[in-house]
Parts: sequence; structure tokens; C-alpha cells
Amino acid sequence: MRTKIVAGNWKMNKTLPEAEQLINDLLKQVDTENKVEVIIAPPFVNLSMAVDKTQGTLIDIAAQNMHFADSGAYTGEISAPMLQALGVNTVILGHSERRAYFNETDEILKQKAHQAYEKGMTNIFCVGEQLSDRQAGQHFKVVETQLKNALFELPLQAYKNIIIAYEPVWAIGTGETATPEQAQEMHAHIRQVLAKKYGQDLARNVRILYGGSVKPSNAGEIFAKPDVDGGLIGGASLNANDFNAIVEAAKS
Ligand code: PGA
Repeated sequence: MRTKIVAGNWKMNKTLPEAEQLINDLLKQVDTENKVEVIIAPPFVNLSMAVDKTQGTLIDIAAQNMHFADSGAYTGEISAPMLQALGVNTVILGHSERRAYFNETDEILKQKAHQAYEKGMTNIFCVGEQLSDRQAGQHFKVVETQLKNALFELPLQAYKNIIIAYEPVWAIGTGETATPEQAQEMHAHIRQVLAKKYGQDLARNVRILYGGSVKPSNAGEIFAKPDVDGGLIGGASLNANDFNAIVEAAKS
């Protein structure tokens, strides 16, 4: 039985007071009933506050990125030990916006994934094709390559702390969602790719989230698909009512 996850990626939104307000609102509403794992990923500068406020609650806090080195001359970057010292042990890696706007390559992501593994951090690893890849019929191949290049030198035990997020780039922030069938077939494909390398057991147990314009109105039908284990939510995670409705949709 894979417990569903609803993770909110706030991206570059919310000042400290705004973030505090949103967390207060979420804490009033969100009741996981231990049926769903809830994670939120605020910007770095809000992490400390977020960890304090959610201590003892069922909401876990994640970072949106981190560097692969422990420390050093990397101006503007944040390391795994810095996050862990705040009590943050989960990180989103390989988001398509990081890949597209900050030139994160598979090679860099491999190093980051290895760093997360070595530090015992949970890695929400994002993969997903561009619209042109899908139009060219290359979407399965593209996602397979992203997985192989970044994750396939990790040992099997690393996967107990890996969550895959399938986010077709054409569906992120566009209002256009993959159909539940498109999500399901890619999730099934990801399990097949993992099964070939690491065996059926691992492939059956890894949680795979769908991301890309998930909202209260479509979450239920997407989450109902057998290989979809919840969602990575961008825009709708910035509104407590919407995010809570998505958490509710993950319970059934
Ligand atoms: P969206 O973003 O829900 O706003 O499409 C999803 C994501 O980028 O993780």
C-alpha cells in the first residue's frame, strides 16, 4: 500500500508574513487523518519559520532546490547541511523550471541526487517532457533518459527516500492538465523503467506524483489512477482552500 502524497511547491511566491499567513490557514484546515502525507515547499527564506510552525503537525517541509556540495564558494547557493540544520530533510530536485531557467543538466542533477542520498534526505525528483517531445512521440524516451541519467547510479536502498514527480512541462502553470490516462500511462512506464533496473518490488513501492495544473476540480480523477500516488501542486498550493481540497481528494 503506497500512502498518497500531496506536495505544494510554492515556487518564488510569498514573503515571510504572507507565508506565515498561508501556513496558519493551512494548519486550520488540513487534516490528513493519517491517510495522506502533506508536504509544502516554501522559498528558502521562509523555511525556518515554516519548520517552527509545523512542528508536531502532519505537514512536512521541503526545500525547492539545493546545491550538491556541502559548502564552498558557490555564491547564492544553499547546501544540504544548511537545510538539515533547520530541520528540513526533504528537497525537490530537477524541477523543469530549474532545468529550463537555471541550466540544471542531468549531470548536475545526478550529483544533487547523490548528495540527497548521502545525507539521508528525501528527494522529490521531477521528470517530464516538453510539448515538442510529446508531439514527436518521444515522451516515454525523454522521461526514461532523465531517470537513467540522474538516478541509475544510486543503489537500490536510495529509493526508500526517493519520490518521483512526473510533470509534463506543457502542463505546468498553463491550466492544461494531462488527462488521467496520459498520467497513468507515463506513471506505469516509469515503474517499468525502474523495474528493469531495480526489480519489481522497488518499482511497486516507489511513489510517483503527478504535477501540472492540478486543481480541486481535476485532482480526484487523476489521483484515482492506479499508478498515481498523489500530486505536486504549484499554483493551487498558494491558496489554502484549494490545497486543502486537493488533500481531501487524495484521501478517497
Ligand atoms: P502548477 O505547477 O500546478 O502551477 O502547474 C506544478 C509544478 O510546477 O510543480
